[in-house]
Amino acid sequence: MGQLKMQGISKAFSGVQVLQDVELVVESGTVLALLGENGAGKSTLMKILTGEYEASSGQILIDGEPVQIKNVDDARKYGIGMIHQELNLFPNLSIADNFLIGNESDFNKSGFLEGKKLNEMVASVLKRINLARHPSELVGNLGIGEQQLVEIGKSLLREVRYMIMDEPTAALTESETERLFEIIESLKQQGVGIIYISHRMEELYRIADYVSVLRDGRFMRRGT
Ligand SMILES: Nc1ncnc2c1ncn2[C@@H]1O[C@H](COP(=O)(O)OP(=O)(O)OP(=O)(O)O)[C@@H](O)[C@H]1O
Ligand SMILES: [Mg+2]
Repeated sequence: MGQLKMQGISKAFSGVQVLQDVELVVESGTVLALLGENGAGKSTLMKILTGEYEASSGQILIDGEPVQIKNVDDARKYGIGMIHQELNLFPNLSIADNFLIGNESDFNKSGFLEGKKLNEMVASVLKRINLARHPSELVGNLGIGEQQLVEIGKSLLREVRYMIMDEPTAALTESETERLFEIIESLKQQGVGIIYISHRMEELYRIADYVSVLRDGRFMRRGT
């Protein structure tokens, strides 16, 4: 069983303490719900895990071993992926190009990703997220919910061990949300550990195995 652990994590932005001695644990094949009111520091904590922010103190352990995550490439190396609350897409580029951006290092000159052609990969991901759009369609022409699915699809393109989903359903319709839950279920089956941030309690009852609460920058409790 794999395990990802953050411990003693603190972070301040220009003197304002946002996180203080926070601990978080997620096991492979389970969903940890991360709760906390607006501004509690949930996204900040997750961006420390993806190397976007640097913690002022604390450490990250994978399977009990301390790891250094100083940038996004380090996070990828450890199989940590994130679906951002604010979409990180280029509206004037196609779906396929958006999938490619940031994943370039996995592709060689002929567009192969781990032995498979880009187009095949994109088509199979679009099928997985149930998005009936052509890979050449501009992302800016899609609805917000569809764009969120593209963001999710992008994170599925590579092998992940741990997946962070920061309010992924905020812009999704009910049927798109159902599709996401199916994806989460299949990721769980594949042994992926998921950190799921949402303010929608009914979702958490459905998909979360454990819950952690952030309050005033501190870790409150962990349990079912
Ligand atoms: N880059 C930054 N520079 C300065 N302050 C920041 C930065 N990012 C976040 N903060 C501040 O840190 C605090 C925590 O923000 P964060 O976005 O992590 O909260 P959150 O729990 O994700 O909230 P929400 O539920 O609204 O998404 C807030 O007070 C926010 O204003
Ligand atoms: Mg947030």
